[in-house]
Amino acid sequence: MVKVAVVEGDGIGREVVPVARDILAAVRPDIEFFDVEVGYGRWERTGSACDEETIAALRSADAILFGAITTPPDPGYRSVLMQIRRALDLYANVRPIRGEGVDVVIVRENTEGLYSGIEWTEPDRACTVRVVSRRGSERIARYACTLAKSRRHLTVGNKANVLKSDCLFVEACTAEAARAGVPCTFCYIDALCLDLLMHPDRYDVIVTTNIFGDILSDAAAYLVGGLGLLPSANIGEGHALFEPVHGSAPDIADKNVANPIAAIRSGAMLLSHLGDPASAAAVEEAVDRVLRAGIRTPDLGGAAGTREFGAAVLREVGRG
Ligand code: NAI
Ligand code: MG
Repeated sequence: MVKVAVVEGDGIGREVVPVARDILAAVRPDIEFFDVEVGYGRWERTGSACDEETIAALRSADAILFGAITTPPDPGYRSVLMQIRRALDLYANVRPIRGEGVDVVIVRENTEGLYSGIEWTEPDRACTVRVVSRRGSERIARYACTLAKSRRHLTVGNKANVLKSDCLFVEACTAEAARAGVPCTFCYIDALCLDLLMHPDRYDVIVTTNIFGDILSDAAAYLVGGLGLLPSANIGEGHALFEPVHGSAPDIADKNVANPIAAIRSGAMLLSHLGDPASAAAVEEAVDRVLRAGIRTPDLGGAAGTREFGAAVLREVGRG
């Protein structure tokens, strides 16, 4: 029996995750799903967004299917997702961007950098510490090099000209790429944001630090039709969490208009991770067939609702 924890979260997470879960259940009837509640909604109701018990439940799963959670820009509120990523040590955030003429994977360091959680507020200034450790850099570089070795090449997104912390990151990536025999180039992150959009064919695997990867992957969504399409994996040694790149999108929540493709594709990544690439491919192909049939949610210019799109994918999966 395979155990998958399901976190719907907030906003459109509550709409797209059930769609993805139904599709996973259809291709893999042996999966046992169990719900775990975390997020802003829970915080509003109970005063706790996530606790030790929640983390223990997530740890007990073979994989986690995650929606999105709302994080208010409030100095008193700690991001739950950061908490989970750190508690389960999900150090590699893998974000494939595939579409016409685009096949790039962004590998983002997921546990430190500017999201180290080391910050404080003084009366007249607020500080956030950007931590780049040798161990953290080496392991994300190793992950990216292993991936690049099975593909084509590696680009290291950095700002080592200004940030001393990135010199260490670049050094670690250089060493790992040489060890793995992976062709490797370096690019300043600001220039990379533009060049990736103008010449996506120049890129294959891109490795970068936490916030740069966060920003670069949202920008890269432009290449393939928007945030509604991009899945991601958060991988650690013992645990793995799969979630859309997008957030809880409160502006469109509860309207049955959110695109569930990012969540469905995250489900496909989960299946691959569980060692079932055939079911993952079946899900991916079902999504592609529905898109080719012209069924689309409003963000892609269509009129299908979240649930209706999901039902169409479910039918296609059934057809095999
Ligand atoms: P967002 O990704 O939620 O939304 C950005 C824009 O893209 C919005 O206009 C939204 O309507 C649109 N969009 C996003 N997903 C879509 C989908 N599936 N279909 C159609 N349109 C879609 O980012 P935003 O607005 O910056 O953040 C909203 C909340 O989500 C915040 O509280 C933020 O902290 C949180 N967030 C959570 C993440 C997570 O749980 N992993 C990641 C990013 C943001
Ligand atoms: Mg983001």
